[in-house]
Amino acid sequence: MNARAEIETEIKRLKDAGLGWACVETDLREIAALTSRINKLKREKNAVICAHVYQFPEIIKGIGDFVGDSYKLAADSTKTNAEIIIFCGVNFMGETAKILNPDKRVFVPSLKAGCSLSEGITAEDVVKLKKDYPDVPVVTYINTSAEVKAESDCIVTSSNAERIMRKYYQKHKRVIFIPDKLMGTNLAKTLGKTPGKEIILWDASCIVHDRFNTETLKLYRKKYQGLLALAHAECSPDIAAGVDFLGGTGTMMKYIEATNASAYLLITECGFGELAKMRFPEKNFIAMCRLCPYMKSITLDNVLFVLENLPSEYEVSVPENTAARAKKAIEKMFELAE
Ligand code: 13P
Ligand code: SF4
Repeated sequence: MNARAEIETEIKRLKDAGLGWACVETDLREIAALTSRINKLKREKNAVICAHVYQFPEIIKGIGDFVGDSYKLAADSTKTNAEIIIFCGVNFMGETAKILNPDKRVFVPSLKAGCSLSEGITAEDVVKLKKDYPDVPVVTYINTSAEVKAESDCIVTSSNAERIMRKYYQKHKRVIFIPDKLMGTNLAKTLGKTPGKEIILWDASCIVHDRFNTETLKLYRKKYQGLLALAHAECSPDIAAGVDFLGGTGTMMKYIEATNASAYLLITECGFGELAKMRFPEKNFIAMCRLCPYMKSITLDNVLFVLENLPSEYEVSVPENTAARAKKAIEKMFELAE
């Protein structure tokens, strides 16, 4: 096939995948040139792409081999024979993939893919907490560094935090939950636990989810009768109290699939709404959304550059001893999440 025909075929594939609505024809032509080049390189280099739901639609639909929330992508990263994983997500997700797949090369195609939660706590902070609360288990949100995970007993994600915390409370009176204070406060309410007593929290939050306001939520409720409102578990307790469903990216998507409302109000990162619209074109969505600057620092150009050059500054590495300890806590999550 000549180059022109190849691009036409790629444009059709992208349109069939649902990308047509998001881009005008010229953009789609530029996107198709990049996605077809990246997909070829993936085959040549035996690489796969993991893409978090918050990535741009052209990454998810154009080049993603595995698409999902943080839990699904961690599990999926172990299911491939590829030698290289390009992780289109944030650093802690790339680190988790590396910890679970030490023999593979893992790259995050941006040097700006941090996370306010992950940057909000250090391993030294956890060591101090463990000294202050001896014998209290440390349950840690996956949005943390490998070093923090290494100091933890169990990792959780937004889709399994409640289930795993319930299991911990069957054996313990008190649990340390770090680092998301808002998610921890929401969990405390659901589980009937008192912050500071039965659940020890840390003061970090997600800069995307911590600033939605309830006034807008009330306004939409008035305007659209029959609306179902969904919010990510990293949102404030005020938002949590006003929605029909609070959960993680994966569980929110399942909730939409299982219900039939006249419209859905989505209080989370904008990428979620874009994917929901492509997955459920017959449903109506109102996105009360914000962009994650870390997630959105990844573009098709970055991915192409990293896949072509495999530059060392983009490669994820985790010291062996840290990785071994962190892996235990992640495996505990896989065991308790089932
Ligand atoms: P999920 O576990 O829902 O993918 O969340 C990751 C995240 O960073 C949400 O802000
Ligand atoms: Fe981190 Fe929030 Fe961005 Fe998720 S949305 S990666 S928690 S800053």
